[in-house]
Amino acid sequence: MADADAIAQAARLLEEGKLVAIPTETVYGLAADADNPAAVAAIFSAKGRPSNHPLIVHVAYDADLSRWAIDIPPVAQRLIKAFWPGPLTLILKRAPGVDDVITGGQDSVGVRCPSHPMAQALLKLFRQGQGGIAAPSANRFGRVSPTTAQHVIDEFGSPGSGPIAAVLEGGACEVGIESSIVDLTRLDTHGPVLLRPGQISVQQLEQVLGCQLATTGHNAPRVSGSLDAHYAPRTPLALIETQALTKTIAALAAKQRHVVSLVMDNEVLPTEGLRLEGVQVEGVFTTRMASDPQAYAQALYAQLRALDQVGADLILVEQPPKTAAWQGINDRLQRAAFDSAGVLERLLA
Ligand code: TXA
Ligand code: MG
Repeated sequence: MADADAIAQAARLLEEGKLVAIPTETVYGLAADADNPAAVAAIFSAKGRPSNHPLIVHVAYDADLSRWAIDIPPVAQRLIKAFWPGPLTLILKRAPGVDDVITGGQDSVGVRCPSHPMAQALLKLFRQGQGGIAAPSANRFGRVSPTTAQHVIDEFGSPGSGPIAAVLEGGACEVGIESSIVDLTRLDTHGPVLLRPGQISVQQLEQVLGCQLATTGHNAPRVSGSLDAHYAPRTPLALIETQALTKTIAALAAKQRHVVSLVMDNEVLPTEGLRLEGVQVEGVFTTRMASDPQAYAQALYAQLRALDQVGADLILVEQPPKTAAWQGINDRLQRAAFDSAGVLERLLA
């Protein structure tokens, strides 16, 4: 199907209350008409997501935000001007018409204007550009977000066979990790709060805000992405500092552990079957990641999904640099490793 036809079909299906997977520049979303509570509820059951985890409303570039939010502060307009359309979600005070099913009953709402051309075309067509599309990442709850249409099908089955009526094919996502989320609902008490780091760095955000960003504290609204365990493959995952990498791989191999690894592109390691101090170490498949954070992020979820298929004992990930440009990536890696605390020690014991 030509893109224009596929987009028209997606708009029609959404207007009929169906679920459609859509590409965005960050990750694929599982979309429903934000004005149709039953359709939005179907997102939660498809994902297995708890109902108190709010959804982001996606809007067209020039959409009237007053439909979704009230008391929109001037800093919001500055962020919008600087970063929309693009990978930034704003948490604003919710307008009265927004259904509880979207906000999880909170008095705030997340809004985002994606830059992916197919998402924009869909948003312009859907309800003549006046609607909102509620969409979380198109993965089952707690799992790695999809960055290709095939990942969505791997999660939910082919269109029509499961909960999804159609998957809009928009290629591999350019950013690769979910949007940055900035909460602007507590400016008086907390200032702007970063709920989730993404591709846009804290410095870039602070430059536009003209002040520092606070990070999530205990009083933050519930955010499923801020649960410690999230974005995780099924295979245990451990992060390892560069200086301990080869030693750890050798020790795991000596224990006959089946390990796959994601390493930075700054190693002197051969790609397959590590040769360490003259010893051929079997069973360790290493994938080299880009040393540029944008290219790393773009590939990260696809690599985690592929490595998860191997059925290894462990996915060992070399710790990327801890600088600002890597914050979003390090956040996702730490969450992916959260459930696996202690696994390295157990495998080495
Ligand atoms: O890049 C993205 O943001 C992708 C694409 C599809 O747009 N969407 C995405 O949605 O990552 P989801 O639902 O997987 O993650 C959105 C996060 C969740 O952790 C949710 O709890 C939080 O945003 N969120 C949504 N509305 C909120 C609100 N009113 N207050 C606080 N957090 C909110
Ligand atoms: Mg998600």
